[in-house]
Amino acid sequence: TRRVRARDLVAAKERGERWPMLTSYDQYTAAIFEQAGIPVLLVGDSASNNVFGHETTLPVTVDNLLPLVRAVVRATSYPLVVGDLPFGSYEEGPAQALRTAVRFMKEGGCHAVKLEGGRQVAEQIRAINGAGIPVMAHIGFTPQREHTLGGYRVQGRGDDAEEVMADALAVAEAGAFSVVLEMVPGEVAKRVTHELAIPTIGIGAGPDTDAQVLVWQDMAGLRSGRMPRFVKRYADLHGTLTEATQRFVAEVRGGEFPTAEHTF
Ligand code: KIV
Ligand code: NA
Repeated sequence: TRRVRARDLVAAKERGERWPMLTSYDQYTAAIFEQAGIPVLLVGDSASNNVFGHETTLPVTVDNLLPLVRAVVRATSYPLVVGDLPFGSYEEGPAQALRTAVRFMKEGGCHAVKLEGGRQVAEQIRAINGAGIPVMAHIGFTPQREHTLGGYRVQGRGDDAEEVMADALAVAEAGAFSVVLEMVPGEVAKRVTHELAIPTIGIGAGPDTDAQVLVWQDMAGLRSGRMPRFVKRYADLHGTLTEATQRFVAEVRGGEFPTAEHTF
């Protein structure tokens, strides 16, 4: 089967098909997610937290992300790989945004890019899409703007629903092929999904979006500690890896590993 294209995802919406998306930042997870049938992998700027150990997504750079994008692309032949434009790489305007997006396509080898914002970045979306690069938008709660948004908070409650709708219409009009809706009320996500011809991808946006995305370390329970309410853990990789490591530690300390079978 050939690689998924942005237009396939719009066609899937026309057929009423729902689809899953995950983040990936390395070859092994990318290959596993491809095998499991994930049609879209996002090399998210959430690598800032989940790979590089920063507190927020703000510090991660284009140069940090491009090698991860290359790894995910090299490891797969089926999913559409989306590269996430990090904070500071597109806000100055359409020219900067296009320059960064071109780097992701040429140096990263990905098939689409994502950026955060609604009406504020419509011109950036138009410029990137106009150059032949599919754009995934991201509205509602946008982590790169957490300092003005006042932390991780649901967006679009009450009268603010119209703001989310206006952003959704603006990114679609600017040519985005899909839009992530992060932490918006389920009813608002449902309305946006109904209004737009392009697929909506929910994270903390309820069951009525066209697609769902999670950060893979959250989905698989590799990250420990307090998790946002919208996360469902499908495995306990933190527990599994902890236990494996403890056994390795004990066997090395106890002289039980290696044995003859591991020895040349
Ligand atoms: O960077 C990321 O992981 C994301 C998704 C959660 C949509 O932007
Ligand atoms: Na992101």
